[in-house]
Amino acid sequence: MQNNQRYLVTAALPYANNHLHIGHIAGAYLPPDIYVRYMRMKGEDVIFICGSDEHGTAIEMAAIQEGIQPREIIDRYHFSNKKAFEDLRIDFDIYSRTSNEVHHKTAQEFFLNLHEKGILFTKSEKQLYSEKEKRFLADRFVTGTCPNCGYENARGDECENCGSNLSPLELINPRSKITGDTPVVKESTHFHFPLDKYQEKLEEWLKSKNGWKQNVMNYIKGWMKTGLKERAITRDLEWGVKVPLEGYDGKVLYVWFDAPIGYISATKELFELRGDADGWKRYWLDNDTKLIHFIGKDNIVFHTIIFPAMLMAHGGFILPENVPANEFLNIGGQKQSKSRGTGILVKDIVAKFSADSVRYALAASLPENRDSEFSWEDLQARNNNELAAILGNFVNRTVVFAKNKFGNKIADRTESTPESEDLFRYVSSQAELTGKLIEEFRIKDALSEAMNVARAANKYFNDTEPWKLIKTDKEKCGSIINDCLRVCFSLAVIFRPFIPGASDKILGILGIDTASITWKDASNPAIPAGAELGENMILFPLIEDEEIKPAEKQKEEVTSSAEDKTEDGLITIDDFRKVQFKVAEVLECEKVENSRKLLKLRLKVGDKEKQIVSGISEYYKPEELIGRLIIVVDNLKPSKLMGIESHGMLLAAKSGKELKLVTVDGNIAPGAEVN
Ligand code: MF3
Ligand code: ZN
Repeated sequence: MQNNQRYLVTAALPYANNHLHIGHIAGAYLPPDIYVRYMRMKGEDVIFICGSDEHGTAIEMAAIQEGIQPREIIDRYHFSNKKAFEDLRIDFDIYSRTSNEVHHKTAQEFFLNLHEKGILFTKSEKQLYSEKEKRFLADRFVTGTCPNCGYENARGDECENCGSNLSPLELINPRSKITGDTPVVKESTHFHFPLDKYQEKLEEWLKSKNGWKQNVMNYIKGWMKTGLKERAITRDLEWGVKVPLEGYDGKVLYVWFDAPIGYISATKELFELRGDADGWKRYWLDNDTKLIHFIGKDNIVFHTIIFPAMLMAHGGFILPENVPANEFLNIGGQKQSKSRGTGILVKDIVAKFSADSVRYALAASLPENRDSEFSWEDLQARNNNELAAILGNFVNRTVVFAKNKFGNKIADRTESTPESEDLFRYVSSQAELTGKLIEEFRIKDALSEAMNVARAANKYFNDTEPWKLIKTDKEKCGSIINDCLRVCFSLAVIFRPFIPGASDKILGILGIDTASITWKDASNPAIPAGAELGENMILFPLIEDEEIKPAEKQKEEVTSSAEDKTEDGLITIDDFRKVQFKVAEVLECEKVENSRKLLKLRLKVGDKEKQIVSGISEYYKPEELIGRLIIVVDNLKPSKLMGIESHGMLLAAKSGKELKLVTVDGNIAPGAEVN
């Protein structure tokens, strides 16, 4: 089954002027990561390209506002975003950046190619110029009064009050956003790309494309209907790829001209690093390569019209095979936006939850056909009710059974029943279906079919009742457990593109080398009977209610409790006396099952014993605590943590990632009051 086909998968280059939020991930990064992982397991030749988009007025503006150089802005966000991707196990072959020399060179060569062919033309246009700042003011650098509604702080490109599109020249009483300077009108010459001349060719090319998403096609049709227009491809800015011609000082390529060329530069860089400097050509210049751009919907026109027209104008390059653009992932019905404070940043969510949980919850509600919603409750429910209760449960009950009843070894398979054959037929057809859906970019549906396999596996376990069979027919029971272990293998394969961490763990328990896993293994899961299983582990710790409380709620609680204080923030001695601190001795201590954080402690306080559940499991082992004297709040209203009652609170000091329990300086009877 050798073929020459290969895949060049790109994910939109994120601007390096902001932290990534989970909307970005759901839109343009998780879907291709799942797609690429799957295609590789199928044995396809794939490269996966991304990097930071480091030019554009937004970056220059951010730098000016912070009083630093653009270089500092892009370094900050480039490395932060690179890490965010790594934390989510979004695994590009290269995460490059458009400030690299290879990119500047590639973009300039691209520009010169079009220029030398006479495709580009220059045109002089009136623009706002600040004498004081000695610069032309790009759209975002100007504010003024909207000519349509009179709003005084309209932006150069748009009035946020009435929504009308503006050009800076239309503004009444324009001012520089940076210095407040009143600009003058000055002519400036810019290179233009005749996009209108490519309309017919583009339409012809797009006609040959089937399997494109409806939302993408509708968007393109809208643009075509209005008619394509020539576009300026240079700007008067300091920051960017310089126009590589004499006499054009102070001019750079428009960011949307240089950024998509970044896909090409990054590919060059990748093969340079691999010691195969010409390797990039196989991917960009050979018709056997399929180019697939994963993007969010705000990028559609650039990837389906403008960049393809640029590639046509240049010649030699392949055109995209598909552009599976996604809609937006909203939170509380609102678009995620930094300015409105509605986004959930990747760096914050990965600090609290595993990559697998986040990937699963996002994949399960991808905005594939329309905008979708994310909520913390949804993340918790997906993790607890699906990952843990269905997939994790099946793997765990199987492995625990093998451990308790078969000496932690893979039992022999001595017979095959019709039920077992049905199960494996189903697993195999589901693997095929899941794969097909991924190839059609229906990732959400693919994931739900994968989970159906875990459901069927649990049903098989329930129906065959191995816990009864073990007493009457150990051999037959062994066959069933062997079946279940093989289905664990299949599940690890089918879920691998979505939740690679859990897949690694399952394969680790089964003792299977992860390097050689292929998609076919899902239908033919071979495991050696008699081999010892690895150590069982919790695949998906439950997410507790406390963990998903949004930061705002926590803040609200802090402020409302602050109302009990006097105005200067001080409390009275009576307030303090309300809290009963006592010395307690730890009698017993154990981990709460399925929880990453909680320990359950049995304490002696005076004559009584009490139980407290505390989130210190990451800092103390249960056996370290037994016999120690600690301080507790004795008169706290009882509460339940993961269904377990807790009658008080331990005192501990916390600093960053460190936590230390408060103890007493010497021996004293448990129950002693602390004040
Ligand atoms: N930086 C753009 C954005 O975040 C995407 C650029 S995609 C590329 O919306 F094709 F230009 F690279
Ligand atoms: Zn207006």
